[in-house]
Amino acid sequence: MRYLVTGGAGYIGSHIVLALLDAGHEVEIIDNLSTGHRKAVPSAARLHEVDLRDGAALASIFGAHQWDGVFHLAALSIVGESMRDPLHYLEHNFTSSLNLIRSCTQHGVRKMVFSSTAALFGGPDRHGAITEDAAIIPGSAYGESKFFIERTLHWADQVHGLRSACLRYFNAAGADPDGRAGEDHKPETHLIPLALDAMLHRRPALQIFGTDYETPDGTCIRDYTHVSDIAAAHICVLDVLDQRSVAYNLGTGTGHSNLDVLKSIARVSGRDVPWHAAERRAGDPSGLVADATSFTRDTGWTPRYAAIDQIIATALAWRARHPDGYGDAARQIDAASVMRR
Ligand SMILES: NC(=O)c1ccc[n+]([C@@H]2O[C@H](COP(=O)([O-])OP(=O)(O)OC[C@H]3O[C@@H](n4cnc5c(N)ncnc54)[C@H](O)[C@@H]3O)[C@@H](O)[C@H]2O)c1
Repeated sequence: MRYLVTGGAGYIGSHIVLALLDAGHEVEIIDNLSTGHRKAVPSAARLHEVDLRDGAALASIFGAHQWDGVFHLAALSIVGESMRDPLHYLEHNFTSSLNLIRSCTQHGVRKMVFSSTAALFGGPDRHGAITEDAAIIPGSAYGESKFFIERTLHWADQVHGLRSACLRYFNAAGADPDGRAGEDHKPETHLIPLALDAMLHRRPALQIFGTDYETPDGTCIRDYTHVSDIAAAHICVLDVLDQRSVAYNLGTGTGHSNLDVLKSIARVSGRDVPWHAAERRAGDPSGLVADATSFTRDTGWTPRYAAIDQIIATALAWRARHPDGYGDAARQIDAASVMRR
């Protein structure tokens, strides 16, 4: 099969590209490299360095082949940034997705898998794992932009027969277990790479935002899902699209508090993470955990790397080999010196 991956030079996209290539598919990538990395693109995949808002460039890529499906990851995705400039986020994510969806309908593409998000479920604090029936109340312009796109995909199916799977990931984490790809966001906003860098003394002590939530240890709880498990889920869902369009919450169903993550890093590395308490951030829910029962039932997917220590071990191995991400592979840290196992 021949697939297009938008955002395939980014963190999650690069792992999906690897999963597709491992499964024997042909892969081409559309990425403007605004937050992605040329070095994250394997030699077996072709990169089109193109912005999705460039309609003419899309027409040429879509016209060149018959595509069996599109995986759509390209987006601006930093929640806080989206609240500083909400109109920019809404415009960028919506117009780039609209261009892509229109290209799919014009060129007879039948399947799209779309990167949606737990940020659809903002609003009041929720207790327990979140099912697909939960009310959608985006707590940010970023989450709202993803909801716009889910609704656009609904109409693209109704009118044009473009089947779509909206996969609402919770917190992607970890790195390719074979060390071929990993996380490199600049600026980094995710807890695990920030905590690893604090542990490695590559940045100051980690700030934990809020220690007075109504959770067992007072810190926020999130569902960390291994990025390679998220990648595998994208391939599992393709068969469901032969029948109908779907939207699923995707996660392990287990929540870990910020302090649980720091304890896991200490277990895996043998070193403590220096941290200090900071004020709560506006709009951070105390808990976000996915109920992925529907997804597992319909696709047979289960996470291979569900244990938090496995996730941390792969993230640490990547960080130790690539201290500056894709920018500098030369200055490696001796992984054995920071990994207990
Ligand atoms: N990382 C997470 O935990 C998480 C959680 C939920 C949802 N998501 C969603 O998953 C997707 C991937 O997230 P990520 O963490 O890999 O982000 P990322 O920033 O690493 O990857 C996004 C990629 O899209 C590219 N891109 C952005 N705008 C583009 C445009 N207009 N045209 C072409 N390319 C463009 C960037 O260069 C980058 O390579 C995003 O849609 C994000 O909203 C991520």
